[in-house]
Amino acid sequence: MTDSLQDIARRLVAPGKGILAADESSSTIKKRFDGIALDSTADSRRDYREMLFSADTAMREHISGVILFDETIRQSARDGRSLVSLIEANGSIPGIKVDMGAKPLAFYPGETVTEGLDGLRERLVEYYKLGARFAKWRGVITIGANLPTPGALSANAHALARYAALCQENGIVPIVEPEVLMDNPNATHTIETCQKVTEATLEAVFDELEKARVDLTGMILKPNMVVPGKDSGQNAAPSEVAERTVAAFHATVPTSVPGIAFLSGGQSDVLATEHLSLINQLPNRPWKITFSYGRALQAAALKAWGGKPENVAAGQDAFLHRARMNGLAALGEWTAELERQAD
Ligand code: 13P
Repeated sequence: MTDSLQDIARRLVAPGKGILAADESSSTIKKRFDGIALDSTADSRRDYREMLFSADTAMREHISGVILFDETIRQSARDGRSLVSLIEANGSIPGIKVDMGAKPLAFYPGETVTEGLDGLRERLVEYYKLGARFAKWRGVITIGANLPTPGALSANAHALARYAALCQENGIVPIVEPEVLMDNPNATHTIETCQKVTEATLEAVFDELEKARVDLTGMILKPNMVVPGKDSGQNAAPSEVAERTVAAFHATVPTSVPGIAFLSGGQSDVLATEHLSLINQLPNRPWKITFSYGRALQAAALKAWGGKPENVAAGQDAFLHRARMNGLAALGEWTAELERQAD
């Protein structure tokens, strides 16, 4: 029997689990590999993803779904099994990034709109056949002098809503990701501004989702946390980040949305974990709240692996530790003490 959108969405935010965002485009993964002086080739990208997806304990216990890039959903492990089947064998759900990236928005200097709607229906049909049961589309919102503009907010919200409707039409759960950046050049904005912009963004997104007739019970929201810009000089207490983030959701996110899975956005990995745990300790949370981290789940594993076959186990151990810490944070049970303990 085919799983309903609601079943898939619920599985993605199952207690103690979250999503691994491994959907770096070829140019982004090249930057990550540059950091460990590794050539980015189809084989090295495959080896890296195979190392992560075959980390059985981490995957089985803490990773509900994996977001893939187009190349990866078509690749096979060294033993010939598809990477998709590796993910499924660990009880995790394969997903796919379907947007084609943020491009400059005409007449809106400094702002972008995400492309990829043309032909999306046909691509979703193919991705479903390849095993994807959820998808991701990222809209990017930049804070700056007189930014964001209402025009850019509505263009991005509209694209996210059209994407989400096409996903649901094709049996795929949309992850709706409007990211208010914290790490753009000259990100001097305060946490107060981030909260205001995050609320305006989410309001625009849910307005467009409703107009597009998207079923909110069959989607996952992937937002940023409310944090100060990286160049603000402001040092927000983790408890303030947690409170402002949840306050932004109370103001804008309907309670029919089953789950919220954060991006990490440039936060350090441990801080992203601590924030998530504090958020899950606050009262009055009608949504399941978990992680959908890229960098904050992978940075330590990538470094420990270093592109060397003899380091696969070390990479997997580092991945397990972060996955475990974030799994605890999804339950509000992470502590600094547990963080320090080696697995
Ligand atoms: P980060 O957690 O590295 O921000 O990546 C998550 C993601 O999927 C961004 O689109």
